Amino acid sequence: MRTKVAIIGSGPSGLLLGQLLTEAGIDNVILDRVAKDYILGRVRAGVLEEGTVGLIDEAKAGARMHAEGLPHDGFSLAFDGRDHRIDLFGLTGGKRVVIYGQTEVTRDLMERREASGALTIYEAANVKPHDFDGSAPHVTYEKDGVTRRIDCDFIAGCDGFHGASRKAVPERSLRTFEKIYPFGWLGILAEVAPVNHELIYANHPRGFALCSMRSEHRSRYYIQCPLDEKVEDWSDDRFFDELRRRLPAHHADALVTAPSFEKSIAPLRSFVAEPMRFGRMFLVGDAAHIVPPTGAKGLNLAASDVHYLFSGLIEHYQDRSNAGIDTYSQKALARVWKAVRFSWWMTTMMHRFPDTGDFDQKIQEAELDYLTHSRAASTALAENYVGLPY
Ligand code: FAD
Ligand code: DHB
Repeated sequence: MRTKVAIIGSGPSGLLLGQLLTEAGIDNVILDRVAKDYILGRVRAGVLEEGTVGLIDEAKAGARMHAEGLPHDGFSLAFDGRDHRIDLFGLTGGKRVVIYGQTEVTRDLMERREASGALTIYEAANVKPHDFDGSAPHVTYEKDGVTRRIDCDFIAGCDGFHGASRKAVPERSLRTFEKIYPFGWLGILAEVAPVNHELIYANHPRGFALCSMRSEHRSRYYIQCPLDEKVEDWSDDRFFDELRRRLPAHHADALVTAPSFEKSIAPLRSFVAEPMRFGRMFLVGDAAHIVPPTGAKGLNLAASDVHYLFSGLIEHYQDRSNAGIDTYSQKALARVWKAVRFSWWMTTMMHRFPDTGDFDQKIQEAELDYLTHSRAASTALAENYVGLPY
């Protein structure tokens, strides 16, 4: 088989790139090692920047997002028993975010792809990119016991942190940067109205908590937990009791509970691999970088990578120029590092670190006090949260 762009990974970055290319008439094939339903069962991000919303629209997959997504103009920072609203809309000259789950984004892109007739090969085992440094790039995979090959012009490695694309790059060609945080997030989903109409990010002596949502009837709550914590040890009652303790009293009193239908623990990590281009292969999204979730940036960064790569591929196929492809890594990484910085800063400001001394604690309190009393500092937070320009 031959295609123009072979895309490894059917997560948000692979699907978004695939659909933008398909809409532009550039044929592509997506390969994923797992089944469609498995991908749709993963619960992950929930906050979309305007740039991400625009790209989903450009991929013609935005109808349900506009009908069911919740535009949010602000969120709360809770600490010291009170909460302080960050007015995203007012501080950024009219920008907002949209609450719409990654699962739904994925479902909408998959449906659009199926309607457009583009090929996705699910449950493809042992997917491997080859000869991306040479002139005959191709991808091999196994399906039904047979090894198959797809020849292509370019390979897009959209296969997440544990994928095959980055692993295929010789170690000497990669530089990696990593920071592991000494805690995780225990998250639940429950079919119940959210405690507040906007998100609450809470800094509390017992640890961080986040009250988010997927809709007006579905809540997504997280609490900071030690890395060795086991999901089985957290009954719903224990989770909600702990969440209540970490919220200001007026929110704790308003919290309505319901049985959870998803509960999981995610470790927190910052990771960047440089560069993001190796000849005719590009790394996109989590394949190249991971951020801790505190700034809600993971999915949005995957989308901005897609924007730069899609523009480069359009220039290549329509304008016969490689300028966009040649600058992909540089442009994507410039934005990636700013989001890595923001996510690290939000994480550091909002969590309790096991080894925090009195000095670090006082600095954290001063940071929150400054942030909530300075319009300049609040503006810096808001402009990063809604997403820096592409
Ligand atoms: P992925 O979504 O990881 O998609 C990669 C795809 O590649 C998958 O479908 C996978 O099956 C496939 N794949 C992997 N290996 C191979 C292979 N060898 N061959 C073929 N296919 C392969 N971000 C936030 O902003 N907020 C959050 O709350 C949040 N929560 C998260 C919770 C978890 C548990 C995780 C893992 C991430 C979370 N993120 C969150 C980050 C966000 O979900 C990611 O940044 C986003 O999914 C990145 O999209 P992607 O398409 O690049 O990668
Ligand atoms: C969600 C996750 C985040 O990491 C975040 O900062 C905000 C919202 C969520 O899953 O809804």
